[in-house]
Amino acid sequence: MTQGSLTMTRVFRQAAALILAACLPLGAQGDAQTAVNAAFNKFRTLNEGKNADYIPALAKVNPNLFGIALVTTDGKIASAGDLTTEVSIQSISKVFTMAQVIQEQGPEAIEKRIGVDATGARFNSIIAIEAVRSTVGTGAPEMNALVNPGAISATSMVSGGSADAVWNKIIGFHNDFAGRQLTVLQDVYKSESDTNQRNQAIGALMYAYGYIKTDWKQAVDLYTRQCSIGVNAKDLAVMAATLAASGKNPITGKQVMDPAKVPAVLAVMATAGLYDDSGKWLYHTGLPAKSGVGGGIIAVSPGKFGIAVVSPPLDDAGNSVRAQRAIADISNALNGNPLAAGR
Ligand code: DON
Repeated sequence: MTQGSLTMTRVFRQAAALILAACLPLGAQGDAQTAVNAAFNKFRTLNEGKNADYIPALAKVNPNLFGIALVTTDGKIASAGDLTTEVSIQSISKVFTMAQVIQEQGPEAIEKRIGVDATGARFNSIIAIEAVRSTVGTGAPEMNALVNPGAISATSMVSGGSADAVWNKIIGFHNDFAGRQLTVLQDVYKSESDTNQRNQAIGALMYAYGYIKTDWKQAVDLYTRQCSIGVNAKDLAVMAATLAASGKNPITGKQVMDPAKVPAVLAVMATAGLYDDSGKWLYHTGLPAKSGVGGGIIAVSPGKFGIAVVSPPLDDAGNSVRAQRAIADISNALNGNPLAAGR
């Protein structure tokens, strides 16, 4: 064979490999890893945003921390950056406690007691509570379980005979989603407990207005504890992938949640997951997602993958800057938008 025909054979082989790769399903040929690498390299030097500091411990977290993990519904993992450093899960925990109430009591329980509508207000707004006060008990309060008043109420709805019993259920459910034993970051829990007077006021008001029917102080404390659970980017991605896989953890194989109840969770994430910017986020990505002030964001492409990014600096709405940009890029590269036909 001549040198020329050898080169041609190599070119044909490479072209055939590329065509084959494009025809394979997501995760089979590493295009998820390519997209993750591209986003990591593109945004690692992005220096916008600022760590949350209203909880003193969060201001001390390294702002350069940046980890991306994507887990497909068949359990393949693509990742880049820091996958081991734990940050506090913060508001992302609201998804899983809401999911726990939906699992135990059905989607109607959350809809009737708390509501499934956007408030249009900040996550810890007290005016939002006053605004919906007259709708309590009507079966359709204009609120949701991903803003603090609704989230503290959702925590109060987890059944159990004592604070320890309720806590064991909450952490157990989070563990099942993550596929490992998670622990509370004690420095964050202490820091937030020392400074959570606003959430105590929210808890007291929610009790006064009949949303919370049990001990509101216990509900605020357990909510603070759940926000302090330590997670890394991979944990969060597995949790998101479990939602993407209809409630079955794709790493452990455990069916954590009834598949029929998962869409209710995703609906509230789509409506209110990124607070005031939820509409903008959905417009650009179509992905149900949830942010936390610890710097994490999870997003779910149903039937395809769960993705998570950890990067502490936040924008004015309280959402991680790098996480939003990286997830949008990666999902768009992988046709992750569930609102796009024929994806
Ligand atoms: O209630 C709080 O202030 C925090 N523990 C959680 C807030 C949070 O993560 C809002 N997220 N974007």
